[in-house]
This record gives sequence, C-alpha cells and structure tokens, in this order.
Amino acid sequence: MYNEIDLDRIDLTQEAPAQEPVRQYYFMAKCRKWVQEFETKNKRRPTACIQTFGCQMNERDSEKMRGILENIGYELTKTEEADFVLYNTCTVRENANLKVYGHLGYLSGLKKKNPQMVIALCGCMMQEPDVAEKIRTSYRYVDLVFGTHNIFKFAELLVTALESDRMVMDLWKDTDKIVEDLPAERTYPFKSGVNIMFGCNNFCSYCIVPYVRGRERSRKPEDIIREIEGLVADGVVEVMLLGQNVNSYGKNLEEPVSFAQLLQMVEQINGLKRIRFMTSHPKDLSDDLIAVMKDSKKICRHLHLPLQSGSTEILKKMNRRYTKEQYLALAAKIREAMPDISITTDIIVGFPGEREEDFQETLDVVRKVRYDSAFTFIYSKRTGTPAAAMENQVPGDVVKDRFNRLLALVQEISKEQSEKVQGQVLPVLVEQQNEQDDSLVTGRLSNNLLVHFPGNKEMIGTIVDVHLKECKGFYYLGESMIQ
Ligand code: SAH
Ligand code: SF4
Ligand code: F3S
Repeated sequence: MYNEIDLDRIDLTQEAPAQEPVRQYYFMAKCRKWVQEFETKNKRRPTACIQTFGCQMNERDSEKMRGILENIGYELTKTEEADFVLYNTCTVRENANLKVYGHLGYLSGLKKKNPQMVIALCGCMMQEPDVAEKIRTSYRYVDLVFGTHNIFKFAELLVTALESDRMVMDLWKDTDKIVEDLPAERTYPFKSGVNIMFGCNNFCSYCIVPYVRGRERSRKPEDIIREIEGLVADGVVEVMLLGQNVNSYGKNLEEPVSFAQLLQMVEQINGLKRIRFMTSHPKDLSDDLIAVMKDSKKICRHLHLPLQSGSTEILKKMNRRYTKEQYLALAAKIREAMPDISITTDIIVGFPGEREEDFQETLDVVRKVRYDSAFTFIYSKRTGTPAAAMENQVPGDVVKDRFNRLLALVQEISKEQSEKVQGQVLPVLVEQQNEQDDSLVTGRLSNNLLVHFPGNKEMIGTIVDVHLKECKGFYYLGESMIQ
C-alpha cells in the first residue's frame, strides 16, 4: 500500500488526518518539506543515523524507522556524525543501559560541533520511568524521547521535534494498537524479519520485557501473509518470524490461529525459500509445530529453545512453567523427529538462590541436549521485576566462576556438534562478501552455521550447494559445487 502514496501530492494546507497510517504519511510529507528547505539552505541533504541495541525486535523497528527517514529524503549514514541520530535502546540487562549512557556522552560532544544536530532516543529503556526521568533532568541536549508503543508515530514525533526547541517526550504505558503498512528499509535485500506478534505475557520473574513491551498482541495472519508476499516480490527469500514467544501466537485473535497453522500458510508463499522464527518458549511448543517443521521444505532446521536454568527449583522461581524433565523430554522429542536439527538456547547463571547443585543441573541439561550453540548470560537485576526483590542474590565471584565453567562446556559441545556435517554438501544462503577476504563469500546453512567459500558478490541472496570441507569450530570453510 505504501508504494502507492506519493508524498509530494499530500495537501499540507489541510489538517492532519486522524486515521492511521495515512496520518503518518501526512507527517512524512511535512518532514520532506523540511528536508527540502534544509537542502536549499545547506546545499546538501541532511544525514541520519540509527543505532540499534538489543534484539531482533529492535532491529526490525529500526528498519521501519529507516524506511520513514529514507522516504522523507534523509541520507542514511553509519556514522553518528549526522544531523539526526536515533538510539533504539535495550534494557534487558544492566550493561545494555550502560552502553547507551556511554554513547550519549559521545553524542553531546558531536552536538557541540553541529548545533543543529537532533538527538533522539527510543525503545525499551525509555519505557522505564526512572530512565525517562534521568534523561529529562540530566541529558537535556536530547531532543526527542519515545518508547516502544508509539514507534508507528515516528514521522509525527520527528515533525514535533524539528518544530520545537524543547525536549519532546512521548511515552505510552501500553497499547493495543497495531499499525500496518508503513515503509521499511531493510538491512539485507534478500532477508527480513517479520513481526508476527508484539509484547509478552509470560512475566518470567527476572525479565523486564513484559513491562517495557506491553501485553501480547498478535497480527492477523492475512496481514502477515500480505507483508511477506510484498517482501518476496521485492527480492526476499528468507523471513524470520519474530515474537517473544511465537508458540503462543494467535491465541487471542478474534479467529484464533495457531503458530503451526501460520507456518503452514507462510510455507505456501511462492518464491519464499526459507522460514526461520524466534523465540520458542518450551512451555507452549506443540506436537503440531514439530510435525509441521518435520514435513516442511522451507522451515529451517534450527530451533532456539531457551532453557534459562536446568534446575526445576530455579525454573519455578523464574516462573518458566516447565521442569528439567519436561524440557529434556521435549528436546529429545524434537531431536527424534528431526535428527539434523540444530537446537540453540539461552542460559542465565546466578539467578537469586542458585546453589552449586542447581548449577550442576544446568550443566547436566547442557550435556544431555548437546546444544549447537548457546547464549550464556550473567543474571542482571532489573528493578521492578519480582526477582530483583528476592533474597539470596548470588555473590559476583561465585557467578563468574560458574559462568566460566558453563561457557567452557558450551563451547566444547558446540564445536563437536558443528563437526557433524563435515564433508556433506548442503545448501547455503549467501549473505555477504567476506569482510577479510573478498575472494570469499559468507552464508548460512539451514541449521544457522556460517560457511565461508570462494565466490563472488553476484551470489549474494542466492542458495548455493556447498561442500563443507573444513570445520573451524563455529564455522566452515567450503567449496561451491558450481564451478
Ligand atoms: N522471549 C525470549 C527472550 C527475550 S530476552 C524468551 O523467552 O526466550 C533474551 C534473553 O535474555 C533471555 O532468554 C534470557 O536468557 C536473557 N535475560 C532476560 N532477562 C535477563 C536478566 N535479568 N539477566 C540476565 N539475562 C536475562
Ligand atoms: Fe522475558 Fe520470559 Fe517474556 Fe521471554 S518469555 S520475553 S524471558 S518474560
Ligand atoms: Fe532488549 Fe527490548 Fe529486545 S529490552 S532484548 S530490545 S525486547
């Protein structure tokens, strides 16, 4: 739909329409006028840079905001020496916040050199009232602050910020709104994230996400399919369906649809070659999903199945709603149905009350499931979550020691798992030219492993059969079968 709207034909003498998304196109047209005036005055287009912290949800949100900036006429840059800089923030762990504060100091220096620079902050961190207050009082050179619920209003907020000489702050507590049909500027021409749902209702006791992303809302399947069809027509061959817990997709729709059913619909889209998704909460992973994955020609052989802890007692305190035994049984069932699948995970070390025995249970699950790779995190206390108020927070040196032991085990197993496809010929989706050596290209196997092999940039976005010659631990060196 957005391709049909010509910004130059929108009548700005009229009032802004109340309906979305047309209202945002009106503000894009207004911004474009501002950009044109800037160009006349400065003999160049204004530049804009968006930096993303955090997960794929944020990456996708940033692509949407880049799409809007691009439509308005900004020149997108990678450097923060730009006329407009936006940080899309994450607050899942304390160090995510610290990074943003660090970067902000750097931006203040840049703004002194370029006083017309506009600095904006958005995303999960801004949804925390303490953070918003700190920005308001101690970072007065920031021009625009908004959160996760009103990203669709980006064009409108930008107009307000450009017209105002005070800090503009627009933060919503929650929303049930989903605005479709806004533009997006993809990082990769051949692959794209696609939101299938927003928010989270699980309230794992350590996690801030439900507080900053609001309640779970699913998009209608027809809107998702229409978006993917549009992406495929635009050259996309791989989609990553995104949600905090894709396994509970569609439960609250007027006409409920399960995630397994949605996958079957996506599978039908002609021209789409690969389907990925994340994240799967173990408590909701259905037999139907396993059956659909097993029979699918397009769903990749990769499942990210966050464990968090191997101790049933800690899992209970985490409010994860599965036991160690249930998790192990599920992983075994998945491996039995699809022996070539790669299972990856997230693990938290040092949750309040974690004893050495609990940690040993985590190591035990890692040994039994044999993860293809795992993200390991040190527990970070998030104010406002139930776990932050729990007693028995584990001392830092104990956590660090457990973390190192876990990492060593995870890496050892992951290396062995990677070696399993040595010598095989498997399809690789080529993603980019190798950064160190441009006679090589880099791509991904269905199971998400990286492969480097001799090739050229014409291969980018295509699927090539590659002989996996040498396993280098976490990636392969290979040779393409078309010479
Ligand atoms: N919805 C996803 C997770 C999103 S957050 C899921 O449930 O799987 C990504 C990961 O960050 C989580 O899986 C968890 O391992 C980690 N994480 C979340 N909160 C954390 C905290 N307070 N401290 C350390 N790690 C945390
Ligand atoms: Fe956080 Fe749990 Fe929701 Fe994942 S499922 S986002 S860990 S509350
Ligand atoms: Fe971070 Fe928000 Fe994602 S807190 S992990 S960016 S949902």
